[in-house]
Amino acid sequence: MPHKAGKLIILACLLGMLLPAVSRGFWNFPPAPPAYEYGNLLISRTSEKNGVKPVTFSHWVHRQRHTCRVCHFELEFNMKANTTEITEKTNRAGLHCGAPTCHDGKSVFGHEEPHCKKCHNGDKAYGKEKFAELSSRLPESNSGNMINWSAALRKGLISPVHYISLKPKTDMNFKEKLTLEAEWSNVPPAVFPHKPHIQWLDCNNCHPDIFNIKKKTTKHFAMARILKGEFCGVCHLNVAFPMSNCKPCHPGMKSH
Ligand code: HEC
Ligand code: HEC
Ligand code: HEC
Ligand code: HEC
Ligand code: HEC
Repeated sequence: MPHKAGKLIILACLLGMLLPAVSRGFWNFPPAPPAYEYGNLLISRTSEKNGVKPVTFSHWVHRQRHTCRVCHFELEFNMKANTTEITEKTNRAGLHCGAPTCHDGKSVFGHEEPHCKKCHNGDKAYGKEKFAELSSRLPESNSGNMINWSAALRKGLISPVHYISLKPKTDMNFKEKLTLEAEWSNVPPAVFPHKPHIQWLDCNNCHPDIFNIKKKTTKHFAMARILKGEFCGVCHLNVAFPMSNCKPCHPGMKSH
């Protein structure tokens, strides 16, 4: 083999080792569902066992009117499907789905016939016919719901309420933007802006369970763990824009 070609092959091998690390194909992304199903869940911790169909829950329907904080802080829904102890009884007692101003039968349909099937239908795509109208009205993105939710909020095209009864106590204007340099020197760092998060979330949704409250102290903070549903992956795999969309997190990355 001529000397020059050998060098080229070695160079190609080296590049081959480095490049996939920063390209989409290297990581195992969950398959992308249709835009109208991204963030939709089927809840069946108790339903099927008790002879009714699983409950369909759509994040894109609900986040137009309520921030994550309302449900995941005030109403205490966990950010993991089928782990919250929701029952028909808690719903009817004014908790969970039946909270005041929610499915209480006054503000929105409640827990009585003929409405049972609106929740208990086992259909993850339930309500899909309303999606086209919504997505045509809101700014576009290239992943998840194909809706840029941050921009929708910023432009006042949606105005989800931030609380039902528990007003945020903390200063929700906290804007610190962090640069989280990766351990790999060839990778443009990830950024974490507080502002577009606290418009939706409470500090308690992230601190201290998901992240330490001191920069660069969260342990094992790497893509492989994020893609397993830890750290940023708690939300950015199934409700907020997905991990396949590198650019908002790594603004320095050229493609994507
Ligand atoms: C606003 C949505 C909603 C409506 C409307 C609703 N349910 Fe439910 N229901 C739920 C949720 C959420 C659960 C908990 C689901 C789970 O974990 O499997 C549940 C659970 C149940 C269960 C499982 C046993 C239990 O007590 O938790 C039964 C049975 C049930 N509902 C019957 C009904 C009937 C009958 C109606 C109509 C009269 C109805 N539901 C209306 C949301 C709803
Ligand atoms: C109207 C209430 C409501 C709103 C608003 C809401 N969620 Fe949820 N979310 C739920 C419920 C209910 C579940 C299922 C909980 C369970 O089954 O234990 C859930 C589950 C999740 C999960 C777990 C998904 C899975 O596949 O396991 C994540 C992540 C999540 N929500 C993030 C968010 C984020 C981020 C926002 C704001 C953009 C948000 N949620 C807004 C009610 C809500
Ligand atoms: C939701 C935000 C987010 C998205 C989307 C995202 N990353 Fe990351 N990425 C991070 C964070 C946070 C780190 C860890 C930074 C640190 O070490 O503190 C990271 C680290 C990395 C690293 C360094 C190695 C490692 O495992 O820590 C590489 C390479 C990387 N990302 C590539 C990508 C590529 C390619 C994409 C798109 C396909 C992507 N990332 C999408 C947040 C994200
Ligand atoms: C969506 C998740 C999320 C929310 C919500 C959130 N933070 Fe953070 N915060 C982070 C992350 C990620 C870090 C960096 C952790 C690390 O690098 O180990 C951080 C770091 C911090 C730091 C340390 C900054 C530094 O320079 O060391 C402070 C202080 C902080 N957050 C305060 C808050 C307050 C106050 C709120 C509510 C107003 C809040 N955070 C809401 C994710 C969040
Ligand atoms: C508790 C849920 C949650 C966690 C954890 C979380 N995010 Fe987010 N993030 C959101 C939501 C909700 C939005 C609003 C946009 C959306 O829903 O797609 C958002 C928006 C963003 C944006 C703004 C995009 C824009 O267009 O303005 C960036 C950048 C981002 N996240 C990066 C990160 C990084 C990096 C991490 C981990 C260090 C992280 N996020 C952790 C929920 C979360």
